[in-house]
Amino acid sequence: MKPVHCLSLLAFQALCVAAGQHEHPHSTVFNPHRALWKRQEAAFPPTLDQNEAILANSFDNASLETWSYYYTHGLHLAGTNKTIAQWTADRWNEFGFSAKLVEYYTYLNYPVSHSLSATFPNGSTWTASLREDPLPEDDVTNYPNSVPTFHGYSFSGDAEAEYVYVGRGQQVDFERLKALGVPLEGKIALSRYGGPFRGLKVKNAQENGLIGVVIFTDTADDGNVTEANGYAPYPHGPARNPTSVQRGSVEYLSTHPGDPTTPGYPSHFDSPRTDPSLVTPQIPSLPISWKDAQPLIQALDGYGTSGTTVNRTNWVGKLNATYSTGPAPGTTISLSNVVREETTWIWDTIGIINGTHEDEVIIIGNHRDAWVVGGAADPNSGSAVLVELAKAFGALLKTGWKPRRTIVLASWDAEEYALLGSTEWVEEYIPWLSKAAVAYLNVDVAVSGPDPELAASPELHEIATEVLKKIVYPYRGYNNLTLYDVWYGLTEGEVEVLGSGSDYTAFIHNGIGSLDFGAGGGPTDPIYHYHSNYDTFHWISTFGDPGFVAHKAIGQYVTLLAYHLANDPIIPFNVENYGVQLTLYLETLADDIASANATVDLSPLESAVATFNASAAALTELINTASTEQEISFVNAKLRDFGRGFVSQGGLPTREFYKHVAFAPGLDTGYAPTTWPGITEAVAAGNFTLANIWVQKSAKAVEVAAGILTP
Ligand SMILES: *[C@@H]1O[C@H](CO)[C@@H](O)[C@H](O)[C@H]1NC(C)=O
Ligand SMILES: *[C@@H]1O[C@H](CO)[C@@H](O)[C@H](O)[C@H]1NC(C)=O
Ligand SMILES: *[C@@H]1O[C@H](CO)[C@@H](O)[C@H](O)[C@H]1NC(C)=O
Ligand SMILES: *[C@@H]1O[C@H](CO)[C@@H](O)[C@H](O)[C@H]1NC(C)=O
Ligand SMILES: *[C@@H]1O[C@H](CO)[C@@H](O)[C@H](O)[C@H]1NC(C)=O
Ligand SMILES: *[C@@H]1O[C@H](CO)[C@@H](O)[C@H](O)[C@H]1NC(C)=O
Ligand SMILES: *[C@@H]1O[C@H](CO)[C@@H](O)[C@H](O)[C@H]1NC(C)=O
Ligand SMILES: *[C@@H]1O[C@H](CO)[C@@H](O)[C@H](O)[C@H]1NC(C)=O
Ligand SMILES: *[C@@H]1O[C@H](CO)[C@@H](O)[C@H](O)[C@H]1NC(C)=O
Ligand SMILES: *[C@@H]1O[C@H](CO)[C@@H](O)[C@H](O)[C@H]1NC(C)=O
Ligand SMILES: *[C@@H]1O[C@H](CO)[C@@H](O)[C@H](O)[C@H]1NC(C)=O
Ligand SMILES: [Zn+2]
Repeated sequence: MKPVHCLSLLAFQALCVAAGQHEHPHSTVFNPHRALWKRQEAAFPPTLDQNEAILANSFDNASLETWSYYYTHGLHLAGTNKTIAQWTADRWNEFGFSAKLVEYYTYLNYPVSHSLSATFPNGSTWTASLREDPLPEDDVTNYPNSVPTFHGYSFSGDAEAEYVYVGRGQQVDFERLKALGVPLEGKIALSRYGGPFRGLKVKNAQENGLIGVVIFTDTADDGNVTEANGYAPYPHGPARNPTSVQRGSVEYLSTHPGDPTTPGYPSHFDSPRTDPSLVTPQIPSLPISWKDAQPLIQALDGYGTSGTTVNRTNWVGKLNATYSTGPAPGTTISLSNVVREETTWIWDTIGIINGTHEDEVIIIGNHRDAWVVGGAADPNSGSAVLVELAKAFGALLKTGWKPRRTIVLASWDAEEYALLGSTEWVEEYIPWLSKAAVAYLNVDVAVSGPDPELAASPELHEIATEVLKKIVYPYRGYNNLTLYDVWYGLTEGEVEVLGSGSDYTAFIHNGIGSLDFGAGGGPTDPIYHYHSNYDTFHWISTFGDPGFVAHKAIGQYVTLLAYHLANDPIIPFNVENYGVQLTLYLETLADDIASANATVDLSPLESAVATFNASAAALTELINTASTEQEISFVNAKLRDFGRGFVSQGGLPTREFYKHVAFAPGLDTGYAPTTWPGITEAVAAGNFTLANIWVQKSAKAVEVAAGILTP
């Protein structure tokens, strides 16, 4: 998974859209003037030093295509394919990493059968296909072992009832329905995809007394590239295939990532197990296509409150219907979802190059499991990039080079169910990681379109943007741009805040600075069929990234970034920027407090951030003068360790797993971040007592971080 673009700094009103939804956080289109104005800062083409050139020149789009082809022509749903994990280890070993499999014994579920039908008052019945059409043009869509459309961690069961349309299924949507007097108890929810993580839609429905959930894809999320605008659907054109379905997990990601049966500790064969039912839905759910959704949403026309009167953002979509709430008396849905629960092995591939300083470690990871046989963008564009990255470091090793820091490569399994492979691994190795980890770099969907997207913790912003300037990026017909130019032309230079939805989560919430990078589609790009059987090699080589040129540039970027983090004598962190960002988050929080008329005194937190600023300034001075190995090791230890301070005060309210006091996924968003989450969410909930407690806790955490940083 990896499905959102988010405008940071908006706290509980975070503006986010799901991947493939063709909206950009800051501007919808690339602005070449902005890009070229910034160009004054850097030469083109960029100049690389000798090691950088060896790494970058090792990247080859033909090899990337080969790796992509391999990963996307066999079932690799979580826990089903040890061969592909071993193949990954074999490639990394060939190139010079020392790689092996690390296995965990985890609770998962797999689809068995499903059905969905509607019965109308006149007695007629309509049955949903629940199936994505196999396409003669796309070999993989015809595989007999294609994964049926289902929700990971969904509840096995049947439901039959009248149904109501609930928009994107956030808590505010259900509040609006209640205010309108729409009956919810005992009904089935029909919800749009987009906005919050899908598991939270099901959770919210369950908490409001509904007994089943059907979630559909709406073409309103497809930007301009729709059949209505004259584009042919896949495989004949870039528009959405009408039968495409978004699979995905419905676990409660915003509170409990990892194996639901082993919270806080690794899943070994003999690990004690807890009941997963508190963090997984207890009502059945199914995902459907827009084609299957159209008759269901249409049947509500004229019943309940019409969509325009409901008057909520993203309520009315682009299907031919009024998006009325319903229920339509006598019109019922009957759904059945049968899944098989299994506790079974998953396989992470872990590869290592020892550095000369083994107490400083950087980790680069990508998940390998996919919801479908293909998974060409999610996640195997990233998997192909990591093989090529291993090859590039191999080329450098051949020159006799050895990194200063240890480099760990990770290919995670079972990310899609709830970040299992990375979370269990972090839970197992946290005693080592909390002493040695410098940073974690995540690549999930490396490429699903051409527009680069960067999210990172603040100490990484500067190095992350500097390395963007080193990469030539063939983009929309321009041949004279760097990745930085394009990124700046899209975002005006704002690095996004990390929420959740991919494998950086366990790292950042254990105080390890993290970064997430990849490229997605804009409003005029081919539709990315997220978690669909059409996320295939044929799609990515025809529409997503013809020529694998974006794969190459993204791979070069991650490789050079990893190189600098692993090899620069002083860890290239800008800690003063942490103070800048924390202050920006404070301004957002002050606005939230003002608009909620809350009585919350932020001065302890302001003063903690000022203390942090002073420590950061003092360390920066030392960084600028450090020259002996002893001085360098001293500042590196500070840079490596200070982030642990932000997680020193225990977990956030109601969610022990999430510990970082400055950012976390929103409780009711799952993907999108909330800044100062302990305080912001207490203010949003109207509990100012709790908000004040979290001002104190957040301030203490910032002070602990400052204390570690102080030279
Ligand atoms: C495992 O995945 C690989 C790569 O996609 C594929 O070649 C192989 O057939 C898969 N194995 C099974 C049992 O599906
Ligand atoms: C019954 O009602 C449904 C929904 O309004 C409609 O699509 C269908 O054509 C009707 N069937 C008959 C036989 O009238
Ligand atoms: C999308 O289409 C609308 C109307 O068809 C047009 O006004 C708009 O400029 C298009 N957007 C882009 C980015 O092409
Ligand atoms: C919808 O809500 C907005 C503000 O929330 C209001 O300005 C507008 O008049 C409302 N529209 C309708 C049709 O009620
Ligand atoms: C939309 O549905 C109405 C009836 O519900 C129908 O008359 C109309 O032709 C449909 N429009 C399109 C574009 O399919
Ligand atoms: C890396 O170092 C560790 C600990 O010092 C050692 O156990 C391991 O064998 C080394 N690995 C390689 C590939 O050299
Ligand atoms: C880059 O190329 C575009 C068109 O291809 C051209 O308009 C622009 O002037 C070029 N910019 C630079 C800095 O070379
Ligand atoms: C690699 O990229 C070049 C252009 O940069 C293109 O001509 C070639 O077809 C690409 N190769 C593959 C295998 O996609
Ligand atoms: C805050 O107070 C103002 C003025 O008293 C009032 O208009 C507004 O509705 C209040 N907002 C909230 C969220 O209570
Ligand atoms: C922290 O320092 C930054 C500049 O480095 C400044 O923008 C910010 O206002 C300072 N914050 C506080 C709370 O002093
Ligand atoms: C507010 O938070 C405090 C501290 O956690 C808790 O004791 C109290 O019950 C909460 N109040 C409400 C109304 O939830
Ligand atoms: Zn993914």
